[in-house]
Amino acid sequence: MCGIIGYTGNRQARDVILAGLRRLEYRGYDSAGIAIGNGSLNVFKDKGDLDHLVKIIPEMRGKFGIGHTRWATHGKPMKNNSHPMVDCNGEIALVHNGIIENNVSLREELMKKGHVFRSETDTEVVVHLLEEYYDGDLEVAMRKTLARLQGSYAVAAMHQKENGKIVGARNISPLVVGLGKRENFLASDVPAILEYTDRMIYLLDGEIITLTKDTVRITDFKGKSIKRNWQKVEMTLEGAEKGGYEHFMLKEIFEQPNSIRDTILGSNLNAESGYSFDLKPDTVKIIACGTSYHAGYVGKYMMEELARTPTTVELASEYRFSSDTSQAPLIIGISQSGETTDTLSAIKTAKKRGFSTLGIVNIVGSTMTREADSVFYTRAGLEVGVAATKTYITQLIAMLSISIKMGVAKEHLGIDDARYLTQEMRKLPKHVRSVLDQSDAIFDLAQEISGARSMFFLGRNMNFPVALEGALKMKEISYIHAEGYPGGELKHGPLALVTEETPVIAIAVKDQTYEKMLGNIGEVSARGAMVIAIGTEGDRELEKYADHVIYIPEVPPLFTPILTSVVLQLLAYHTANILGCEIDKPRHLAKSVTVE
Ligand code: G6P
Repeated sequence: MCGIIGYTGNRQARDVILAGLRRLEYRGYDSAGIAIGNGSLNVFKDKGDLDHLVKIIPEMRGKFGIGHTRWATHGKPMKNNSHPMVDCNGEIALVHNGIIENNVSLREELMKKGHVFRSETDTEVVVHLLEEYYDGDLEVAMRKTLARLQGSYAVAAMHQKENGKIVGARNISPLVVGLGKRENFLASDVPAILEYTDRMIYLLDGEIITLTKDTVRITDFKGKSIKRNWQKVEMTLEGAEKGGYEHFMLKEIFEQPNSIRDTILGSNLNAESGYSFDLKPDTVKIIACGTSYHAGYVGKYMMEELARTPTTVELASEYRFSSDTSQAPLIIGISQSGETTDTLSAIKTAKKRGFSTLGIVNIVGSTMTREADSVFYTRAGLEVGVAATKTYITQLIAMLSISIKMGVAKEHLGIDDARYLTQEMRKLPKHVRSVLDQSDAIFDLAQEISGARSMFFLGRNMNFPVALEGALKMKEISYIHAEGYPGGELKHGPLALVTEETPVIAIAVKDQTYEKMLGNIGEVSARGAMVIAIGTEGDRELEKYADHVIYIPEVPPLFTPILTSVVLQLLAYHTANILGCEIDKPRHLAKSVTVE
């Protein structure tokens, strides 16, 4: 992962770079560092997040430089492993996002030539290669260096003798160029530089960029010039501020009614209007990672019920290595960032297999929007909290919209039924608001469970993946071990772990699995577990089974995951907050995962 940034212009580079790194921190926060050029090269870096760096960084004057925020892959988080990396003479500085796969052999070769390595990272070979090939022109050295690298990278480098010049390159990891007036920028993504310009060029794999404050030159790895037009980016930075909330995550949970409304508005939901992808595929395969995978898993139930289309869900990191024997499936890749390497690789694999691909993506202009044959944009706006909330909810809306459309196209769903469902969908923002109104009650429950060391989340049918997502949210931000399980499966093993010390969160809404869920709640209660149930408004029966009940408004069963998920987001949030955890930046995690 990691975030990189470069600047050249008339401002003090230190300020631009630190501000940009603040917006890139979601990509990792194990260490941070910057390099500034001013006739000489000044590098300052340390283990820890950006707040730490800002506290200790000295004044560094100079009008061009590069910066980095790290998510450790090779080498522990420590000062020596922080970027920027410098060559033996301290003349060249480099930042990198990605993994250099042949770093071990390159390191041996370079050490034999006398290069002195100071870190355990894969990145350091790149700066020594630049040193090795440098002959007065950093761009030429970069080209020769890249020819030696295998793996994924977005890099930015500078040489103290080449005043005002930044050279970058991209292969797999994202890199965007921002064009200003007498200043230019380079960053892992748009928000990092959006404060200064909205004119962007998204670099493609195999491109090298050479920036000065007045010039922008793009070439391929052979040196041939490439002409690219810039695009005006419509994104705003509104989402990048906490707006009075204690954490981004809480703000983003509370933004969900608007995100749902915007995604519905953007989804062309009128039953008559079409989409640009095949609405009558024989089968569907959904590939994604993390929370997006859970959204896809819920989507499977929507797709099968509304469009009667057999649907499988696979983790992107597994799909690539499977022998997919499906016949002409529509492959749906779901990714908030549109940059998750495993998901992008899976999409590429699917295309190689001759399948058509659809991306459900939140970030406009991200790599997946170019890789997939068609794109459905979720309109959640910028999400900063590492734990996905509003983007996940809009992925559920996307899956619902697509399933309804497919259902109509395949004539499994009548136009009237489709209209009824879309009308009901439009009420979802209001229903989510009524769940959010229960935040204080959910806080009280969080207090009850915050002392637990382990807990279970149970659900069935389309609320089974919600249980998986509830458990994921709980473990990633509160560090309490949590497992999501289908209610019926508990007795085949995990029940052995259930005691009075393991709270159970059970989703028992009024659908065809309701009675069975009551039975499952009985099983865990009998073993002493405290049960928090999520039920349908007005269901007093449930209170006889569970210790506590949180109610959601009555909606069509297929819509319940959208509401039950919000309860679980709040439960995880409050639990983590009570425990004093770093909610927006959970340890070891990052928002955009650009390593395989
Ligand atoms: C990381 C994030 C998760 C996200 C997953 C997939 O693990 O922390 O919140 O669900 O990546 O990301 P994507 O951008 O592909 O949805």
